[in-house]
Amino acid sequence: MLAKIQETASFIREHMHTSPETAIILGTGLGSLVNEITDKYEIKYENIPHFPVSTVEGHSGKLIFGKLGDKDIMAMQGRFHFYEGYSMKEVTFPVRVMRELGIKTLFVSNAAGGMNPDFEIGDLMIITDHINHFPEHPLRGRNIDYGPRFPDMSEAYSRSLIAKAKEIAAEKGIRVVEGVYVGVSGPTFETPAEYKLYRIFGGDAVGMSTVPEVIVAKHCGIRVFGMSVITDLGVEGKIVEVTHEEVQAAADKAQPFMTEIMRELINRAES
Ligand code: HPA
Repeated sequence: MLAKIQETASFIREHMHTSPETAIILGTGLGSLVNEITDKYEIKYENIPHFPVSTVEGHSGKLIFGKLGDKDIMAMQGRFHFYEGYSMKEVTFPVRVMRELGIKTLFVSNAAGGMNPDFEIGDLMIITDHINHFPEHPLRGRNIDYGPRFPDMSEAYSRSLIAKAKEIAAEKGIRVVEGVYVGVSGPTFETPAEYKLYRIFGGDAVGMSTVPEVIVAKHCGIRVFGMSVITDLGVEGKIVEVTHEEVQAAADKAQPFMTEIMRELINRAES
């Protein structure tokens, strides 16, 4: 496993002309951030040794190196989901490669169903914490020496970045909410009873990604900031049929606001 990660990292390093310490997983809501990256250099996942290849509609797969404002960044356009059939090791492989490449901070986004009754469709939720409800743990198996066998999770999402993001949203007059993200395998959206359960668990939103990558990032010593676009509501009395297309449409509307906060945060974040 470690040998593969290192082989992949050395392949990528040969193509890099910068040394970014910031990585971004361009999940739902952040697709257009790619248009703001300058001095771009791209590598398709299919050309990277040991890299999984993404399959989901609307997610093309490539690594992008370049600048966002003044900052050198590395971005993943297209992520790997557990529901696609990838193992947890594959889902999180790119994060371990990031660690080998010297990444210190990771920014992630996703789409999620809101369970907090105060949430509205199109809201941006700053992720303050998560509940891992995937059926397999990404760190199960022999420990890789990037971090301890039993990693601390008391601050999975950087408090200082959360505070900065709230400041930025307030400055720009963008409504943001905060909450706990419940990570589930999918691919089904939740039944009303499941939404209710995840709310009782302590969740504010539920989605099918992010948690595995964040766990592995924390294990590697990478700090994390994450945001969800609330694309549908799992709130009793407001539950209607959900389709992937509706989720996309709600996300597209919220995208400019999420992009604005992330761009600014990435620029202001130290390192
Ligand atoms: N549940 C799970 N994942 C999701 C949802 C949802 O309601 N909306 C967007 N991704």
